[in-house]
Amino acid sequence: TATALIVVAAGSGTRLGRGVPKAFATLAGATILEHALRGLVGVDARIVAVVPAGAEADARAIAERAGVDAAVVAGGATRADSVAAGLAAAGDARRVLVHDAARALAPRALVERVLAALDAGAGAVVPVLPVVDTIRSVDGAADASAEALGAIVDRSGLRAMQTPQGFDAALLRRAYEAAGEGRAASTDDAQLVQALGEAVVAVPGDELAFKITTAADAGRAEALLAPTRA
Ligand code: C5P
Repeated sequence: TATALIVVAAGSGTRLGRGVPKAFATLAGATILEHALRGLVGVDARIVAVVPAGAEADARAIAERAGVDAAVVAGGATRADSVAAGLAAAGDARRVLVHDAARALAPRALVERVLAALDAGAGAVVPVLPVVDTIRSVDGAADASAEALGAIVDRSGLRAMQTPQGFDAALLRRAYEAAGEGRAASTDDAQLVQALGEAVVAVPGDELAFKITTAADAGRAEALLAPTRA
């Protein structure tokens, strides 16, 4: 297939506090990974699920339940390592989408928007949303109450990055090679492309593509997934 869709699901989920890797936490009767994969049914792409080492068999069963034909590979210690593992399994795909399993409710329309921007010739595409909170920098201290408050950053000039992000496959591979070990600190693939001096195109994100990170996020996702009651 011309497109590979890498779903990174190898995070530990410490902040979610469920005691299992995040993608394997259950919300409304199915794991986060299953919800994420269900949202991708019908996308014209070879799906590569990147999961914690040892969880491959579980992930294969989950993919089958979700109704997607996914290749499953083991991830690494950082998100970037996991993306690199996914890239290694992406075969000869001409373009690559990288998606956080934790953004399990990302709507199909968002995926199509990213693909359309690639079709229109972009080499790198990232969905973005305005920042709603007022953001202030701090002087790093381990304990929030001891942090020295810095300046407020003008939020009108800020955007939150989402996934799926879309790339020309050769460009993303080049970005990962160029970043080398430095990729470990990266939480955003488009940033690695930008570091090459290549253009990154923004498309409108979607609030439903929020990243399930904390217990409160899980609660929000469950409320959205719950069948509507009469
Ligand atoms: O930790 P964070 O929420 O930023 O992770 C974003 C996505 O990256 C999640 O879907 C998570 O499973 C994935 N991840 C990964 N491998 C890691 C760390 C995070 O696949 N080592």
